[in-house]
Amino acid sequence: MRSKIVAGNWKMNNDLAASKALVGELVSEVSGLSLDNTRVIVAPTFVNLESSVAAAEGSAIEVVAQNMHQADSGAYTGEISGSMLTSLGLKSVILGHSERRAYFGEDDALLASKVDAALKNNLEVIFCFGEELEDRKSENHFNIVGGQLKNGIFHLDAAAWKNVVLAYEPVWAIGTGETASADQAQEMHAFIRNLVSETYGAEVADEVSILYGGSVKPENATEIFSKPDVDGGLIGGAALNASDFMGIVTAI
Ligand code: 13P
Repeated sequence: MRSKIVAGNWKMNNDLAASKALVGELVSEVSGLSLDNTRVIVAPTFVNLESSVAAAEGSAIEVVAQNMHQADSGAYTGEISGSMLTSLGLKSVILGHSERRAYFGEDDALLASKVDAALKNNLEVIFCFGEELEDRKSENHFNIVGGQLKNGIFHLDAAAWKNVVLAYEPVWAIGTGETASADQAQEMHAFIRNLVSETYGAEVADEVSILYGGSVKPENATEIFSKPDVDGGLIGGAALNASDFMGIVTAI
């Protein structure tokens, strides 16, 4: 049975003290929950990964990275490799976030190479994609999402998919307060699962967790998570506050 997942992407927020404090709060909050088949994930900035891993040790909180470089080492000033992440004890990495695509020029081909590098380093990939507002207005959103999947991650063989989580994040819903309706999310998630099924078969499609991201809050999480193809959320702003994030965890 595929996992349910609530993942907090902290983006470029929280210094060392704030990261430790937030992980500490979440650790004590989740300790009272029975997390049946549900994963709770946080993605701090690179510099706060090690302290977050230490703060989360022994708890159900998983710490993951927000990005990585595709090379394993070398003259890439300012970059972080997959083997560096695994050396901290990390097991997963987010790739393809729309902010990486928009502000740092990460295209499908680059992301495909990052996906390969992550898997080679035994890192699970949380692969993000989603259309922009004009794509939805012009009713091109299914084409855009299909293309991002085909060019970024559908080169993998079926066996690799046990280490893949998909995260559909419509760009127009990120940080805007405007959420896709639960029906819009379900419609797209069903489309995505169907594409996976056409390419890899029903078993792979049935096992892959597909998260929704974009202005998820405690107030709207229950309705979005009630949809059959929505397996959880990738949370930005609301993940920076322990009680909001826990409200979303409780919703799932
Ligand atoms: P918000 O929840 O702030 O809209 O951000 C979503 C997101 O980008 C998570 O990766």
